Amino acid sequence: MSIATPSGDTIAAMRFLASLFATSVLFGQLPEPKFPRPAPQQPIPFSHKLHAAKSVACVTCHTMPPPGDFARLPKTEVCMGCHSTIKKDSVVIQKVAAFHTQQKRIPWAPVYRIPDWVSFNHVKHNAVEGVTCATCHGPVAEQDTLHREKDISMQACMDCHRVKNASNDCQTCHDPR
Ligand code: HEC
Ligand code: HEC
Ligand code: HEC
Ligand code: HEC
Ligand code: HEC
Repeated sequence: MSIATPSGDTIAAMRFLASLFATSVLFGQLPEPKFPRPAPQQPIPFSHKLHAAKSVACVTCHTMPPPGDFARLPKTEVCMGCHSTIKKDSVVIQKVAAFHTQQKRIPWAPVYRIPDWVSFNHVKHNAVEGVTCATCHGPVAEQDTLHREKDISMQACMDCHRVKNASNDCQTCHDPR
C-alpha cells in the first residue's frame, strides 16, 4: 500500500475528481436517471385515465401543428370548453378557471424531453405503420399521473431505426443546421 506517498500525478487526478464532484453537488448536476423517472409534481392533478374514459382523443388536447415537431400542451381554453359547465364547483376546476381568467398558462412540469439540438418530428413518427403514442409514451390512457415510463434515449431511437430500416446516420438526428 502506498497511500502515504501518492505521486504528484495521483494527487492531481484526485483533486480533479474531487472538484468535479464538488461542482456537480453544488450545481445539482449529478446525472439524473433518464428512464424510468418518477412522476413530477404537477400544478393541477390532471388524470389521463379519467379523460380517456370520457373518450377525449389525444389530439384534441395535443395538437401537432406543421411542421409537426412538437405536440402542444392544451391551453386553458381547451379545458374550459368542458369545465365551464362540467364539475365547475370542484375546487381543482376553480384553480384551472383562475389560470384561465388571469390568461396564464398552467405551468405543467415536463415528462418527456430531448435536447433542442436533436431533430425529432411527431407527425412523421405517428405516420409509421404500427407506431402509436403508446410506443414511445406507454399506456397513457390508463394512467392517473404520467411519469417517463418509456426510454427516449439515443439508444432507444437507434434500436427502432435499425428494426424499421430508418437511417441511423448521425446527421439524421444531429443535423448541423
Ligand atoms: C383533456 C386533455 C388531454 C387529453 C385528452 C390527453 N392529454 Fe396528454 N396531457 C394533458 C395535460 C394537461 C398534460 C400535462 C400534465 C401531465 O403531464 O399529466 C399532458 C401530458 C402528456 C404527456 C407528457 C407531456 C410532456 O410534457 O412530456 C404525454 C406524453 C401525453 N400527455 C400523451 C397523451 C396521450 C398519448 C393521450 C391520448 C391517450 C393524451 N395525452 C390525451 C392533457 C391531455
Ligand atoms: C371534452 C371535455 C373535457 C375537456 C376538454 C377537459 N375535461 Fe377535465 N373532465 C371532463 C369530464 C367529463 C370529467 C369527469 C367529471 C366527473 O367526474 O363527473 C373531468 C374531470 C376533470 C377533473 C377532476 C375534477 C374533480 O374535482 O373531480 C380535473 C382536475 C380535470 N378534469 C381537469 C382538466 C384540465 C386541466 C383540462 C384541460 C387540460 C381538462 N380537464 C379538459 C371533461 C373534460
Ligand atoms: C417515436 C416516438 C414517439 C411517438 C410515436 C410519440 N411521441 Fe410524443 N414525444 C416523443 C419524444 C422523443 C418527445 C420529446 C420531444 C422533445 O423534447 O422535443 C415527446 C414529447 C411529447 C410531448 C411533450 C411536448 C413535446 O412535443 O415536446 C407530448 C404532449 C407528446 N409527446 C404527446 C404525444 C402524443 C399525443 C402522441 C401520439 C399521437 C405521441 N406523443 C407520439 C416521442 C414520441
Ligand atoms: C418506433 C420506432 C421509432 C422510434 C422509437 C424512433 N424512430 Fe425515428 N423514425 C422511424 C421510422 C420508421 C422513420 C422513417 C420514417 C419515414 O421515412 O417516413 C424515422 C425517421 C426519423 C427521422 C427522419 C425523418 C424526419 O423527421 O425528418 C428522424 C430525424 C428521426 N426519425 C428521429 C428520431 C429520434 C430523435 C428518435 C428518438 C427520440 C426516434 N426517431 C425514435 C422510427 C422510429
Ligand atoms: C435516431 C436518432 C439519432 C441518431 C441516428 C444519432 N443520435 Fe445522437 N442523440 C440522439 C438523441 C435523442 C440524443 C439525446 C439523448 C438524451 O439526452 O436523452 C443524442 C445525444 C447524442 C450525444 C450527446 C451525449 C449523450 O449521450 O447524450 C452525442 C455526442 C451524440 N448523440 C452523437 C451521435 C453520433 C456520433 C451519431 C452517429 C453515430 C448519433 N449521435 C446518431 C439521437 C440520435
